[in-house]
Amino acid sequence: MNIPLSDIYVDAGAIDAVSRVLASKRYILGDETAKFESEFAQKLGTRYAVAVSSGTAALFLSMLASKLEKGDEVLVPSFSFIASASPIVDVGAEPVFCDVDPETLTIDPRDIREKITRRTKAIIPVHLFGHPANMDEIAEIAEAASLQIIED
Ligand SMILES: Cc1ncc(COP(=O)(O)O)c(C=O)c1O
Repeated sequence: MNIPLSDIYVDAGAIDAVSRVLASKRYILGDETAKFESEFAQKLGTRYAVAVSSGTAALFLSMLASKLEKGDEVLVPSFSFIASASPIVDVGAEPVFCDVDPETLTIDPRDIREKITRRTKAIIPVHLFGHPANMDEIAEIAEAASLQIIED
């Protein structure tokens, strides 16, 4: 089976949307972004969605919004892109690397349980290669230990 790694699906609607943004000459923020944020929030069933320039920026802003600071520990999978862990260091907190499940390569909830300490403040599950992390179990652990979840 041949699975193309970077064959990104772009339909006419996406090309129209990009053309509208280019024609508007408003490439940052603007009406199109506001409309996207509101439609995306509605699709997810959340009150807010905030569009940013990159995944790294999204993670960094999430760290700030979660009020993570020096001395806090954040559980993160040992297998991911560097940006899953680097914003933790940027806010002065400490990444604590957890094993991944060999089947899905996502963070292993059993190792999350092992690595929780009094300093643990958050868990960053990373959904990778189309495999979602085990969010039911992670949400249960987070609830029991009063930890924040920041999904990457
Ligand atoms: C799992 C994961 N998190 C975060 C990022 C960072 O995204 P960006 O390159 O848009 O900053 C990437 C990028 O490949 C990623 O694979």
